[in-house]
Amino acid sequence: MSDQLVGHVLEQSKEIKQNINQIIDQVLEINSSIKGPRQPNDKFVEQAQAHVDKVGVNRGRPLFYPYIGTGSGQGPYVELEDGSVKIDLINGIGIHILGHSHPAIIKASLQAALSDIVMQGNLQPNKEYSILGEKLINLASKKSRLKHAWLTTSGSMAGENALKACRQYKSPAKMIIAMKNAFAGRSMMMAEITDNENYTVGLPKYNEVLRVPFYDKKDPKSIEKSFEIFKSHVAKHEGDISSFCFEPMQGEGGYNSAPREFFLPMLDFCREKGIPVWADEVQTFCRTGEFFAFERLDIGEYVDVCTVAKTLQAGATLFTEELNPKPGLVSGTFAGSTVALASGIAALTELEDGYMGEKGKIQNVHNMFVGMLNELNEGSCRGLLQDAGGMGLMVATTPLDGSKEKMLALLKTLYKNGLMTFGCGKGPFRLRFLLPATLKEEDVAVCKKIIEKSVLELA
Ligand SMILES: Cc1ncc(COP(=O)(O)O)c(C=O)c1O
Repeated sequence: MSDQLVGHVLEQSKEIKQNINQIIDQVLEINSSIKGPRQPNDKFVEQAQAHVDKVGVNRGRPLFYPYIGTGSGQGPYVELEDGSVKIDLINGIGIHILGHSHPAIIKASLQAALSDIVMQGNLQPNKEYSILGEKLINLASKKSRLKHAWLTTSGSMAGENALKACRQYKSPAKMIIAMKNAFAGRSMMMAEITDNENYTVGLPKYNEVLRVPFYDKKDPKSIEKSFEIFKSHVAKHEGDISSFCFEPMQGEGGYNSAPREFFLPMLDFCREKGIPVWADEVQTFCRTGEFFAFERLDIGEYVDVCTVAKTLQAGATLFTEELNPKPGLVSGTFAGSTVALASGIAALTELEDGYMGEKGKIQNVHNMFVGMLNELNEGSCRGLLQDAGGMGLMVATTPLDGSKEKMLALLKTLYKNGLMTFGCGKGPFRLRFLLPATLKEEDVAVCKKIIEKSVLELA
């Protein structure tokens, strides 16, 4: 009987590893000509437009940008079917944190693609499921009481599992305290927690969410005001509050950040009243300069449930021992594709190497990028890029007059000039960047030129 498992032979095969390394070298060599923004090429424009049009017809709604990627990129640069190259500062809304065609991700994907199945599930997982779960718990448990991680396929599904766990723990309580301008996802219940009426047009209201204003740095009484409202909700619905859900830094809602002192009174009150605390870190995970924003804010001890996704290449709900749901409450067929789970492991492993902390690469990218925006705001684009800031790789600025029309016009102009990003907030309407952690000084210089040109075109 052989003392080696076939799967291990496959995984450890020197020949396969050599072949994979060779493929990666070839891919990097082919991609190496993607070095900076490029305008569309007439030769490809018509065919690319046909793809864009087909997407619009098939899914019933046009794409926001006429974007179809070719499958090639290098770092922050991505090549499109129309022959253009864009600098990508939104990375699929926060998925490709290491940029495009990162060798560690290609390597993990190739190795994973050789395994026996495409999708892993909760009944028959392979070892990527085990490794990713353990990695998450190891990272989370350094600064929190989180002990379990349940994998799923999206941030919204992770949110549904979080809410179920809180509600089961506090059964039969149903009300959720959430922030004004919150974003929690697109399922029915996550859309209800999301504070944006445009996302629930025509849907019934469940009226299970109570709102508290997020931190307003312009209002010296902001902390007290929010806490008073929080307490009044609890008093009015005593015994019927299932959870307090918050983003440690708001994403979609406007890239609003808050100091630790803002959260503390509410968190202490939750502890006193036994209200489960759910930190929605779907967007902040890996991005604020620590793996979890609760570490950055030093509030991890309060967190009972935490949701992550995006950078993870999967979704996950982390629970403390007490909040771990009873069998039967959370499950589902898919936990993620083998390639996605392996890529999530590779991304976390890479990010452990010098990216986190005050002197880490993420903070450096933040400083370079915010510094560049401030320079423009004080120089050639005077007053046209206000209030630049955020945390780590989540950076926003209020462009032009802060109106929706101008922000949308700027997005399209930036795109035309070779830079992709997106908006957030509801007034002022902001320009948000989900920066790749691998952004270099020379890339920031490229961004500066495009942003300057685009803002001045519209000013
Ligand atoms: C804070 C937050 N929560 C939840 C979600 C939903 O995640 P998903 O789009 O993967 O369902 C998002 C997505 O942008 C988010 O930013």
